[in-house]
Amino acid sequence: MDKFVIRGGNPLIGTIRVSGAKNSALPCMAAAILTDEELILENIPQVRDIETERKLLASMGAQVEMCAGVSGHETILSCHSLSDPVAKYEIVKTMRASSLVLGPLIARAGAARVAMPGGCAIGGRPIDLHIKGLEKMGATIEQKHGYLEASAPRLHGAHIVFDKITVTGTEDLLMAAVLAEGETLLENCAREPEVVDLAALLTAMGADIRGAGTSTIRVRGVSRLHGARYRINPDRIEAGTFLVAGAITAGDLTVVGCNPKHLRAVVGKLEEAGAVIDSPAPDALRVRSNGKLRATDISTEEYPGFPTDMQAQFMALVTQAEGVSLIKENIFENRFMHVQELVRMGANIKVDGRTATVQGPARLSAAAVMCSDLRASASLVLAALIADGESIVDRVYHMDRGYEQIEEKLRGAGAEVQRMGNVFAPRSPELSTHTRV
Ligand code: EPZ
Repeated sequence: MDKFVIRGGNPLIGTIRVSGAKNSALPCMAAAILTDEELILENIPQVRDIETERKLLASMGAQVEMCAGVSGHETILSCHSLSDPVAKYEIVKTMRASSLVLGPLIARAGAARVAMPGGCAIGGRPIDLHIKGLEKMGATIEQKHGYLEASAPRLHGAHIVFDKITVTGTEDLLMAAVLAEGETLLENCAREPEVVDLAALLTAMGADIRGAGTSTIRVRGVSRLHGARYRINPDRIEAGTFLVAGAITAGDLTVVGCNPKHLRAVVGKLEEAGAVIDSPAPDALRVRSNGKLRATDISTEEYPGFPTDMQAQFMALVTQAEGVSLIKENIFENRFMHVQELVRMGANIKVDGRTATVQGPARLSAAAVMCSDLRASASLVLAALIADGESIVDRVYHMDRGYEQIEEKLRGAGAEVQRMGNVFAPRSPELSTHTRV
């Protein structure tokens, strides 16, 4: 199990380029199910969740080729024949977003067998709203032996109002609607840029969609979709994470290849906390900080509000801010797993229900800490970048799910980060797997 060894104290100076958005890539790859023609996706990040999705599609009979094409990462997908439209538990249990194949499978094959994803570290993560919407579109869905058994000769259009705003719920039903008979009206939709990215891909494939990015999306079903070549968005959460890294280390860091329009809430809170941010180019954001940070409250909301996926990273930042910051997590019921590890490094944080109270500034000392989920990992790495001494951040496979070559990117801006294999259990010297990267 890989670990990071991080020596804190270096300000991040220079430039870091972000990769493609994991949370765009996952629905866009699932969209390949909707056509028997070839789909070419550019800017797909090489991260564990993408590899999991590749395995999932291949297990159903799709051909998926990941290659470093001229445009960075290029992924060629062909679901010419789906020999086995089953999303098996062995794969689904490792990535909840596997439920994104449910709508497309029913739309394409008229049937689907998808393992129930189960919860994860940050919450129960139900998909009841996906199921409710698909049933309204004519699917019969039963739950048997931990699987959803779904069938529908052909889905028909429906008027669906989501009880709660759900990102993958919106994406799942959008993909179901594009091949449904008639018109579908989706209300109370998620407005995240990843939904807009998916809708743009589906449109390039021949779908008839209006309103993506607003809370109301109207879809006119078509009889078939064709292949396309499409470049997905840059990852706004990866970009936000690096902006926080520049601020927390009192650095001068330019994040390139991002879309500043997707980061307005994050930039606003970083400026409120005392960082200086400007945009030297249309696809770049520069963050500077003198290390003097002000306490800042955040309350996570659906887009365009402050993203829950940036909550853990921002909490690490405000441990260094002068005063008391209140952090309210409104989206997931258990997204404070990073708190205890930050406290072990010296942070002063108290949790009461969905609100964390952070008293700063607190001097962080290096420690051995353990990752619990993707964004909690990022929080611990940020803390280790400023802690005095050498921290060991364990179980970084959580981080590898959504951050591509994170240690190379951070090292390129001056951080002292090394990825180590299982250094604490070498049975003999030749077996210890130090991999100095
Ligand atoms: C997406 O998850 C993202 N994942 C998450 O990113 C992100 O944190 C989340 O949206 C919120 O922005 C992907 O896009 C692959 P939701 P998703 O459905 O779609 C409840 C990361 O770090 N809900 O918008 O699963 C749910 O319990 C990951 O990259 C239902 O009750 O989140 C939650 O409280 C973590 N029933 C709220 O809605 C449903 O059927 C929002 O969840 C669906 C959701």
